[in-house]
Parts: sequence; structure tokens; C-alpha cells
Amino acid sequence: KIVPVILCGGSGTRLWPLSRAGFPKQFLVLSGTTSLFQQAVQRVNAIADSDIQVSPTLIVTNEEHRFLALDQLREMKSVAASLLLEPTGKNTAPALTLAALEATAKGDDPVLVVTPADQTIQDDAAFTSALQQSVRAASDGAIIILGITPDRPETGYGYIRRTGSAASFGESAVAQFAEKPDAATAQQYLDSGEYLWNSGMFVLRASTWLKALAQFRPDIAESARLSWSEKTSDAQFIRPNAAAFAKIPADSIDYAVMEKCPRSAFDIRMIPLAAGWNDLGAWDAVWQVGKQDAQANVTYGDVIQTNSSNSLIYSSSRLVSTVGIDHLVVVETPDAVLVADRRQSQDVKAIVAQLTQQG
Ligand code: GDD
Ligand code: MG
Repeated sequence: KIVPVILCGGSGTRLWPLSRAGFPKQFLVLSGTTSLFQQAVQRVNAIADSDIQVSPTLIVTNEEHRFLALDQLREMKSVAASLLLEPTGKNTAPALTLAALEATAKGDDPVLVVTPADQTIQDDAAFTSALQQSVRAASDGAIIILGITPDRPETGYGYIRRTGSAASFGESAVAQFAEKPDAATAQQYLDSGEYLWNSGMFVLRASTWLKALAQFRPDIAESARLSWSEKTSDAQFIRPNAAAFAKIPADSIDYAVMEKCPRSAFDIRMIPLAAGWNDLGAWDAVWQVGKQDAQANVTYGDVIQTNSSNSLIYSSSRLVSTVGIDHLVVVETPDAVLVADRRQSQDVKAIVAQLTQQG
């Protein structure tokens, strides 16, 4: 029995001005016809087979986005889910802890399939088989990380170094986990050929997560348990106690636990995922996964262009037209317009930081 856990409480600032505090990127339709969140839910529910039963999905998100998530779930009809609502973002370690406590509330110890909601996958069949393999390997207590072969020295990801020996399910032990290295270190990891990216997808028993957290971050484990034990629930939403929640230290799964697991008693392993994985972190990635025309432009909405190339042009309300541009990102919304060099689209977060400072 598995429980899918969807982490979707992030704010996605690098996709400003489309991604906003009130409508973050995971709920946007950026590829295909459904949102990134809907794709994530659908994908993990599709791994059911003759010996993997999928229990209702646990969605962990921000209180502010409960109706966005609920509406998008209702559009999908066949998916059973509960929503755990966080009063504020405390990053992913507390979010996963709430899900693990909820999943074990009735004395079960299911395998959790933990996935972020800001990614696209091209090859669903390859995804399904890697996940099924992970579930089998995690049943015996291992922590499984889905790894991606890197193609650039990205500094926004975690890197995992695996040992040479492959075990029963084709997975290999993780020798080192390094979250978000600096540029020089990332280049060194890439050149060595020994590292894979952390996809952000983890498969492990709920009790394994709770045990690892209690060992490495007892402060998060205890404060999260306190908040969860005083939760209130209604038909649709589960709310941890807000006053207790406010005292939980913020940290990510990666820093709080995964970096510490190699060289510990925990059995941490990696299974490679070759399924056309893409993290839609910044506009450049949206361009990469989009449908490109002969001049490598990706356009959305009401756009007219001539002589333009290698650009992402997005209109959400007004007509947008471009002449002779190259390597640009142009994103129009009713109250803000972004024009950026596509190759510097990571730096959009600096704009958001300035806006936040100005209030
Ligand atoms: N519920 C909840 N609460 N979800 C959150 C919170 C929170 O406070 N903060 C972030 N999330 C969700 C995001 O919406 C996203 O779906 C997922 O958790 C991952 O968070 P990100 O903030 O996007 O993490 P990241 O991209 O910087 O890094 C992670 O993903 C990379 C791959 O995309 C790490 O796991 C890296 O190691 C990994 O390489
Ligand atoms: Mg991310």
C-alpha cells in the first residue's frame, strides 16, 4: 500500500509575473492542458498495479491555496485526496512530517511516494516503472531517491554521488548528497561523471522518515508532532494547530535529512529516472518544454511576431507583438510585464525581491 504525498506549498518566484503569491506556478498550465500540480497527482496515482495499491493522496499546501488545489482536484474527478493545510510555509521537511504523521495515524506504515509539484515528465511509462521499482525497494526500509543524469552545472538542485555496486532492484547506494552547491562545485560534480541530480522525488516508509527526522532534527520532529496532534479536521481539510505550527523550524527535506543520511545507519539508495524530467524553475525551462516553432519560439495566448527567434512570448490578456527579437522572454499580465534575456531568467527572483522590499 502506498500513499502519494504532493508537496505544493511553494511560491515559485522565478516565474514572476505569471506566478504570484496568490497563484503560484504549480497551479499554472505551462505545458499540455493541465496544471503542473494536476500532472503530479495524476502521474503518481497511475503507478498502481497488481501489487501496488494507491491510497488517497495527501496534498500538503498553504492555507491560502486550498481552493485552487481543491478546484483543480475536482476537475480530475477520479482522484481521492485529503488536503493538509499549512498556515505559513516552513519548507518541505515539516510538510513531509505532517504527511507522515497523517499516514500513520491509524497504525499503518505505508510507503510514501513524495513528489514536488513543479516538474514535467515526458515519458510516463518510464516514470511508472522507475516508481514501481522504488516502491518495492523502499518496502524494506530503504530511503529511495530518484536521480536524474545532469546535463549542466545547475546550482539550484541537489547532487547525489552513487557507489558503483548495484543492488537487487538496480538501485545503488548513495555515497554523498550535496544540496545546491556553488557554481564551481557544481561544475566539478558534472565533470566527474559520478553525480546525478536529485529529482526531489523520494520513496520511503512513513516510519523511516519519522525515524530519520527524529535522529537528525528532533526539534522539527517534536514541534511538528505537537502541531499535528492538536489538528482540526473537516470533510475536506486537515489543519495542524496554528500556534504550535508557528514554532516549527523551517528547513527542506534535503538539508534537514538527506544530506545527513549517507554515512549514517540509514540505507539510502538512488534509482535513476530517465523519463524526460524537467524542473520548471525559471522561464528558460518553460521555453525548453514548450512547443517550439521553426525559429524556436514558444508562444502562449494572443501573440503576433515576425523575424523573432529562440524566444518565449506569453500573453495573458493583451495582444503582444515582437519584431526581430532573439533569446528573449516576454511575459504580459494585466498589471505587470517582464522582458528578460532568456539566458538570465534565473535572476527574475531579484526583481521579486525588490518588489517585496518595496512592499
Ligand atoms: N507544503 C509545502 N510547504 N510545500 C512546499 C513548501 C512548503 O513550505 N516549500 C516548497 N514546497 C514545495 C514546492 O511547491 C515544490 O513543489 C516542492 O515543495 C520543492 O520545493 P522547491 O522550493 O521547488 O525546491 P527546490 O526546487 O529549490 O529544490 C528541490 O527540488 C530540486 C529538483 O527540482 C530539492 O529537492 C533539490 O535537491 C532538487 O534537486
Ligand atoms: Mg523546485
